[in-house]
Amino acid sequence: MEQEEKQKRLAEAAIDYIEEDAIIGVGSGRTVGHFIRALGRVRHRIRGAVASSLDSEARLAECRIPVIPLNSADAIPVYIDGADEATRHHTLIKGGGGALTREKVVAAASRRFICIIDDSKWVDVLGAFPVAVEVLPFARSYVARQVVALGGQPRYREGFTSDNGQEILDVAFQRILEPDKLETRLNAIPGVLCNGLFALRPADILLLADGRGVREV
Ligand code: 5RP
Repeated sequence: MEQEEKQKRLAEAAIDYIEEDAIIGVGSGRTVGHFIRALGRVRHRIRGAVASSLDSEARLAECRIPVIPLNSADAIPVYIDGADEATRHHTLIKGGGGALTREKVVAAASRRFICIIDDSKWVDVLGAFPVAVEVLPFARSYVARQVVALGGQPRYREGFTSDNGQEILDVAFQRILEPDKLETRLNAIPGVLCNGLFALRPADILLLADGRGVREV
């Protein structure tokens, strides 16, 4: 089965998790793009959506789904988002699209985080995919040096500005055996806004698509 077909099946499967008349948290990326189209077909069942990126806001609007600012959302029962890597502990690397900070905020603000991934994202240990670290442009070189001291190899994502007006360092760590500790250490570097490890707030449910279909892990 092609990756795109798996993403479409994940999108359909995720619709089963939305709650009637609720505000839905919506992440970013290609897999979520399919979910937004599927959500558009059942938009009469929900109040609207909080988006974790400007790109997703635009896609929601195209599908005529009301976009609700996070500051106006009283409760978000369910957040649906993809990931770049996921483990059986439901820890994740996210941020390939650079939307990690808002994604982490919406995940934190949601009661249940449902992560939708195809089998190319499934790993035993996080780390083959670089960890995105969103930094104040002013602090980029300082943060890069601190990240090297933590064992990472940073690469500046050139020509990219996040929705928050900040810059991204993509940091290769290879094998991340204690993602919660690394997430905390990265967050403690002055000048870091956020990092793409989701270990302190992992996914509650993982939907995994492989050649046989979609299953809850
Ligand atoms: C964006 C993300 C995405 O969820 C992640 O990159 C997966 O995207 P895709 O579904 O396109 O593979 O974290 O910041």
